[in-house]
Parts: sequence; structure tokens; C-alpha cells
Amino acid sequence: MHTATIDEIIRRRRTIKPAQYSDRPIENATIQAILESGNWAPTHGMTEPWRFHVFTGSARAQLSEFMAKTYQEITAADTFKQTKLEKLRNNPLLAPCTIVVCMQRQVSGKIPELEEIEAVACAVQNMHLAATAHGLGAFWSTSTVVYHDAMKQFLKLGPEDRCLGLFFLGYPKIEWPTSSRGDVAEKTVWHHT
Ligand SMILES: Cc1cc2nc3c(=O)[nH]c(=O)nc-3n(C[C@H](O)[C@H](O)[C@H](O)COP(=O)(O)O)c2cc1C
Repeated sequence: MHTATIDEIIRRRRTIKPAQYSDRPIENATIQAILESGNWAPTHGMTEPWRFHVFTGSARAQLSEFMAKTYQEITAADTFKQTKLEKLRNNPLLAPCTIVVCMQRQVSGKIPELEEIEAVACAVQNMHLAATAHGLGAFWSTSTVVYHDAMKQFLKLGPEDRCLGLFFLGYPKIEWPTSSRGDVAEKTVWHHT
């Protein structure tokens, strides 16, 4: 096993937003490979609760229009921001591919909902790492719109299902960004005998 490679990919994974993507299209095979990585996330009870809605090509306009229209409909005047509206409208058009990430609730409800959401978050991380390995930037974006019931109707989700965000993908036109993290020792308590 190549631990050096996985460590490098984990550290290299970056949030890169659609305004920073080039026009270079993403091959369907690459999107498929990223979805396959998502599909290998851990899952309590093997429920595999992740569901993906992939928007590419002209379908991106439907997502863009929905995001903008819904934001206008659900946002009170005192919290409404024009810049937010423009981002919600533009991001799905600027990204060659957007994967809308959802959690499908188990019918029996036996597995706690929190764990189903955690499994989907693991799927997103898998996809983000795979995207990094393919040289793709990605951005997990949440908003009032994605959590609104209108999103469930748009995607025809069940009442107990959840949309957990938009996952934008694109080849960066900028230099690959760097980041940093605080010391893990400050977030860790070792319990010795
Ligand atoms: C569940 C989740 C939701 C996120 N939603 C947003 C978002 O709506 N807007 C945003 O700018 N970043 C969002 N992010 C990305 C973080 O801003 C990003 O991970 C952080 O800045 C660290 O940068 P890095 O991903 O490049 O390490 C989200 C991250 C997670 C885990």
C-alpha cells in the first residue's frame, strides 16, 4: 500500500470554487470514477444511503434556475443578498459538472439518521479525494436552498430523505491552492494506562 500517496492526496485536497474553474470539460468516465469512489464509503448496516444527481451540459441551466428562483422565494428581504443570489445562479453554470449529494433515508429507520448523514459525508470525502487525484478542484456547497423542501421536490426525494449540498467539479484555471491546519495534538487526548 502506498501511504505516501494517500497522505499526499489527503493534504492536497482543496476546496476550489466554480469561478476558479477553466472551461475544460470533464470526461464522463472521470465523473463515473469519482462516483465509484463515493460509492465505496463506509455504511452502517450496508444501507448505502448516498444518492447522487449529476448535472452536466444543458441540464446545468435547470439547476441554476432552480437555485436562483428558490433563493428569491424563500429569503426574507432583510437577509437577502444579491451577491448570494448571483453565486447560486452562476456556480452551476461555471462548473462543468455538479453532483447534488443526497441521503436516502432507510425505510425502517433502524440506523440513526445521523449515521446515514455521516456515511454520505464519507462518500463526499471519497469523491473529493478522487477528484484531487484526477487534478480536479471541487467544492461542497451548502445553503438555505439545498436544505429547503423545495429541493426535495426538485429532485423528487422522499419526505425523510435529505439533500446535503452541491458538489461542484472543475479543472482549476488558478494555481492549486495551499492550506494549513492547527496542530492535531491540540485536538487529541491520549489515554494511556
Ligand atoms: C459540510 C460542509 C459544507 C460546506 N459548505 C460550504 C459552503 O457552503 N461555502 C463555502 O464557502 N465552503 C463550504 N465548505 C468548504 C469549507 O469552506 C472548506 O472545506 C474549508 O474552507 C477548508 O478548505 P479546504 O477544503 O480547501 O481544506 C463546506 C465544507 C463542509 C465539510
